[in-house]
Amino acid sequence: MYGSLSNLALAALAPSSGLFTACKTSPLNASWPSVNEWAALNSSIGGTLVQAAPVASSCYRGNPFSSSLNCTEVQNHWSYAANHSGWPESNDYSIWNNNSCVPPGVDGYTEDKGCSIGGMPQYIVDARSEIQVAKAMAWASDRNIRIVIKSTGHDLSGRSTGAYSLSIWTHNFNRIQYQQGWPIPGSNDTADVLICGGGNNWGNVYNAAHKVGKTVVGGEDATVGLGGLIQNGGHGILSSSHGLASDNVYQVRVVTPTGRILVANDAQNQDLFWAVRGTGGGQFGVVTEFVLQTHQVPENVVTGGLTFYPRSKDNASANASWSAFAEVASSLPDLMDQGITGSVMVATGGGAVSYTDQSEALEGPSVVLGFLMYNSTEENMNATLQDLAANLTRVSLNQVNLTLRSSESQSYWSYAKPDFLASRSAGAASLTSSRLLGRKELSDLPRSDLIHYLQQLSAAQVIKSGTMLVWGLQGGKGPASTAEIRRGSVLPAWRTAYAHVMSYGVSVNATADPSKALAAGAEWLETVLEPVWRKWAPHTGSYMNEGNPFSSTWKHDFYGENYPRLLRVKQKYDPSGSIFVWSGLGSDHWHYDLQSGLLCRVHPQ
Ligand SMILES: Cc1cc2nc3c(=O)[nH]c(=O)nc-3n(C[C@H](O)[C@H](O)[C@H](O)COP(=O)(O)OP(=O)(O)OC[C@H]3O[C@@H](n4cnc5c(N)ncnc54)[C@H](O)[C@@H]3O)c2cc1C
Ligand SMILES: *[C@@H]1O[C@H](CO)[C@@H](O)[C@H](O)[C@H]1NC(C)=O
Ligand SMILES: *[C@@H]1O[C@H](CO)[C@@H](O)[C@H](O)[C@H]1NC(C)=O
Ligand SMILES: *[C@@H]1O[C@H](CO)[C@@H](O)[C@H](O)[C@H]1NC(C)=O
Ligand SMILES: *[C@@H]1O[C@H](CO)[C@@H](O)[C@H](O)[C@H]1NC(C)=O
Ligand SMILES: *[C@@H]1O[C@H](CO)[C@@H](O)[C@H](O)[C@H]1NC(C)=O
Ligand SMILES: *[C@@H]1O[C@H](CO)[C@@H](O)[C@H](O)[C@H]1NC(C)=O
Ligand SMILES: *[C@@H]1O[C@H](CO)[C@@H](O)[C@H](O)[C@H]1NC(C)=O
Ligand SMILES: *[C@@H]1O[C@H](CO)[C@@H](O)[C@H](O)[C@H]1NC(C)=O
Ligand SMILES: *[C@@H]1O[C@H](CO)[C@@H](O)[C@H](O)[C@H]1NC(C)=O
Ligand SMILES: *[C@@H]1O[C@H](CO)[C@@H](O)[C@H](O)[C@H]1NC(C)=O
Ligand SMILES: *[C@@H]1O[C@H](CO)[C@@H](O)[C@H](O)[C@H]1NC(C)=O
Ligand SMILES: *[C@@H]1O[C@H](CO)[C@@H](O)[C@H](O)[C@H]1NC(C)=O
Repeated sequence: MYGSLSNLALAALAPSSGLFTACKTSPLNASWPSVNEWAALNSSIGGTLVQAAPVASSCYRGNPFSSSLNCTEVQNHWSYAANHSGWPESNDYSIWNNNSCVPPGVDGYTEDKGCSIGGMPQYIVDARSEIQVAKAMAWASDRNIRIVIKSTGHDLSGRSTGAYSLSIWTHNFNRIQYQQGWPIPGSNDTADVLICGGGNNWGNVYNAAHKVGKTVVGGEDATVGLGGLIQNGGHGILSSSHGLASDNVYQVRVVTPTGRILVANDAQNQDLFWAVRGTGGGQFGVVTEFVLQTHQVPENVVTGGLTFYPRSKDNASANASWSAFAEVASSLPDLMDQGITGSVMVATGGGAVSYTDQSEALEGPSVVLGFLMYNSTEENMNATLQDLAANLTRVSLNQVNLTLRSSESQSYWSYAKPDFLASRSAGAASLTSSRLLGRKELSDLPRSDLIHYLQQLSAAQVIKSGTMLVWGLQGGKGPASTAEIRRGSVLPAWRTAYAHVMSYGVSVNATADPSKALAAGAEWLETVLEPVWRKWAPHTGSYMNEGNPFSSTWKHDFYGENYPRLLRVKQKYDPSGSIFVWSGLGSDHWHYDLQSGLLCRVHPQ
């Protein structure tokens, strides 16, 4: 019905007989290593092997996995990304580990489910050296055991967890060293770089850069890791100026599933270097180190913004607000060319009430612009916003209530200083669908078409709760002007994109069986939102780290024309397919069933 079915739709809809030829080894198989064999592995890797013990075990009768944190402590910390990062078996969004052991009172808890290892890894290597990673991965690959890689566990598509797997946890690859005049391999140039262990989070790296009077291009959230963000491109507050995070990498060290320890840069292992910069984490091996270009700190950051929503509940106000929203969308490329970055948040229905000062849900969108400019002035930001506000008032025939936020200039560091406890979204059950949009999609089309697409993408599965569109203004000049050699395998659509837009209209049933809840969400996205993106922006694609891993057109959406070449690199460095991730390269050769926990080969359709 929807063309080639995605992994998860397959899990729910396809008959399970006859399709599978071979599965990764599970504890149900006689060939699963004995306790003694695991102990032997442990001795060979310096005692760094940890048996999975869900931290929320203390919330269950008898504390079956002997968690040392009491249940209240677990509950109090469950929403903090920083805490899931530090719990070896955990990942932020437990739906991806089949809600195997969640504390009462959080998304995914059901009274009868109990606490098991379930969809979490069986063992974790709390690795301290590349040799340990190499030995453990080769050991698992030889035994046909699934490998997963976790840095922080932040992944929105569950790519850092998996049933019956051995997890390589990079948490303690946390070295950060500044080096001036680092010779760039394959060139006669040097750069001032930060050499960062692959398990670092951005907050620690920003602090280290600040200490030496520099900055780097990374993500906005302090607790997000380098590992998953850089490998998929990665955007943040400086990417519209200096390119994506992966555009700023000069070298990586990678341990492959076969146990090779490789240095990859412009002069050696170039295929791996190209692939690792853009394709997404957990595909080729464990990145133990990144060498990052540092940048001059901006002289200042000027913030400013405006908010608008329909003047009243009538249809004319709703239409006016759609027109104003479309005016914003169509102005973005010009605004960004003038140095604007930041975000646009759009809410409809119940969700809008908490975003603005309106007292009840309105028809039509409520829109909050949060803009930034570097090396600029409050006057300049004010003038830009006033010009835009005049345009919005004109196109809406004065039928929106519009408030300007006064501009403020501050130091870069006062704006960008990391806050590790700000990230409190862990635990939620959600899916998203997203797209990269360029001038062609935003400015160069009839306004009525633009309004129509924006309305269709604001569809909500639960109409009363409404939806949210989050526009990240991280494309533009930075990605577009990155030198060819620095571009890696990032989806080429980034080079002409201005905004990355995420739509949150899908509602995932947190208390249902996770595989069924995800399949139902995937099907809603496939029938309602994905067709709109495909019609509006057929030639762009999506940022996988913030995209829909079950899109039936995932190869095109996430990899574009690079797919065939990338698949060859994947097969070269991970010939046994030890690492599987949803919508990863060659993932259509596998079927991962959250119900049974089995990962089995299938014949792609
Ligand atoms: C609150 C929040 C804010 C976000 N903000 C941004 C943002 O500003 N910009 C942006 O671009 N993205 C952002 N993201 C998306 C983010 O890039 C992804 O969630 C990304 O997967 C996080 O990588 P991680 O290493 O922290 O997570 P993990 O879950 O640990 O890993 C993610 C994936 O990368 C793999 N991986 C991780 N480390 C390594 C490694 N060292 N070697 C090999 N594979 C590895 C894992 O196997 C997994 O497949 C945000 C996500 C959240 C939840
Ligand atoms: C391993 O166990 C699974 C689940 O019971 C089974 O389907 C599979 O055939 C077994 N594999 C081997 C090699 O025995
Ligand atoms: C691995 O060895 C260390 C050190 O002896 C020990 O503390 C740890 O419990 C062992 N891990 C497993 C899974 O047995
Ligand atoms: C849980 O642990 C915390 C921190 O150790 C302690 O303050 C609290 O009293 C404990 N609560 C219970 C119910 O044991
Ligand atoms: C939660 O994370 C914070 C920040 O890293 C840390 O200080 C705290 O000890 C953690 N608490 C628990 C219960 O894991
Ligand atoms: C996943 O959860 C479902 C529903 O709660 C359960 O039936 C199934 O056994 C679980 N599977 C695993 C691998 O934990
Ligand atoms: C580096 O410099 C040498 C000597 O001047 C020159 O021969 C070589 O071509 C240069 N290499 C690059 C990559 O520019
Ligand atoms: C701001 O200006 C400085 C020069 O003063 C420059 O080095 C830096 O790259 C600029 N930053 C941005 C984000 O444009
Ligand atoms: C918009 O502003 C007008 C005039 O201040 C006010 O009467 C009206 O209630 C506002 N609309 C909403 C939805 O808050
Ligand atoms: C409201 O506006 C929509 C879109 O322009 C239009 O199709 C519809 O007929 C209007 N409804 C009413 C009651 O005026
Ligand atoms: C306002 O509209 C005018 C006329 O279309 C356009 O030239 C100008 O760039 C717009 N300004 C902003 C800030 O969007
Ligand atoms: C910017 O505009 C605000 C009103 O929106 C005003 O209060 C402020 O003085 C202006 N700042 C400058 C520097 O023009
Ligand atoms: C969510 O799933 C549960 C368990 O299957 C079911 O009882 C409940 O009705 C579902 N909720 C919604 C809103 O569909």
